[in-house]
Amino acid sequence: MRRAVALAAVLAMLALAMGVGAWASRGSNPTTAAPTRPTGKINPHVAAGAHDFVQFACAACHGSLGRGGASPYVPALSGIGKSLTVATLTRIITHGLGESKNPKRPFMPVWGPVISKTQVADLVAYIRAGLPQVQYATPAPIPGNQGPVVAGMAAYVHYGCINCHGPNGLGGVPNPQSPDKAIPPLSGQDFRKEFNTDAKILEFIRSGSVIGKAPITSMPHWGGIIPNWQLKALVAYLKTLK
Ligand code: HEC
Ligand code: HEC
Repeated sequence: MRRAVALAAVLAMLALAMGVGAWASRGSNPTTAAPTRPTGKINPHVAAGAHDFVQFACAACHGSLGRGGASPYVPALSGIGKSLTVATLTRIITHGLGESKNPKRPFMPVWGPVISKTQVADLVAYIRAGLPQVQYATPAPIPGNQGPVVAGMAAYVHYGCINCHGPNGLGGVPNPQSPDKAIPPLSGQDFRKEFNTDAKILEFIRSGSVIGKAPITSMPHWGGIIPNWQLKALVAYLKTLK
């Protein structure tokens, strides 16, 4: 009887020690600690803008942290927060810049129908703050070693196709002033019928298609932005959709 009590006491102490150990290591090991507590101070609008900058693939065209380098036709954004006012930046993001009927190079898309006023304001706050690095605001990686479908699926998120064409290419994202009133699906019978070869799909993504002026949003020109192997991967992925 006494031995049983002693054993229970030892076990209880052991459990307590293990618990304390786990608690202590949580604070000291940043790789396993749950990110429940803020570690540094960052303006929430600037942080949200940094995540929007990745989600809407601004980073794919303007480079990571807006530092350029993706294409000679897309300017870096570093430093422009000092020279451009809130109103000008808001107008550029909402209405786009420099699209021509037959784009031969990347143009700044019209984002008004796709990005909310709050998100545009956050993007402006982020640009005006000098596009700082923000924790977890990093583009989804595109794996090169898991086959074209997986790469295409990742590229569909990385380049923000998903924001305009919806999850699984379902389409239907409102584009109220356009003839179809919505951004088209990239799945289903009508799409398959019109885009019945890989080459047609690939060429369309590369060239883009301008269907009207702001406030209509058009299909961006991705030639020179998305490498060839990823364009092919996007096509492979689109063909797996319903
Ligand atoms: C498909 C490529 C592409 C994407 C995606 C893109 N941009 Fe642009 N952006 C451009 C190009 C090209 C220009 C230059 C247009 C011109 O001057 O004719 C530009 C210009 C701009 C400018 C004006 C820069 C200046 O110096 O006047 C701002 C600001 C800007 N983009 C912000 C954004 C933001 C914010 C996003 C994401 C919501 C974004 N861009 C997404 C291609 C892109
Ligand atoms: C800013 C919104 C926007 C983004 C981002 C966007 N698209 Fe589009 N896309 C459109 C619009 C609008 C059309 C319709 C163009 C037309 O009818 O000429 C379109 C058309 C297409 C089409 C032809 C479908 C059809 O029925 O006309 C394909 C294929 C396509 N997009 C693929 C992509 C891929 C792949 C990506 C990502 C790399 C992408 N799009 C990103 C807006 C967008």
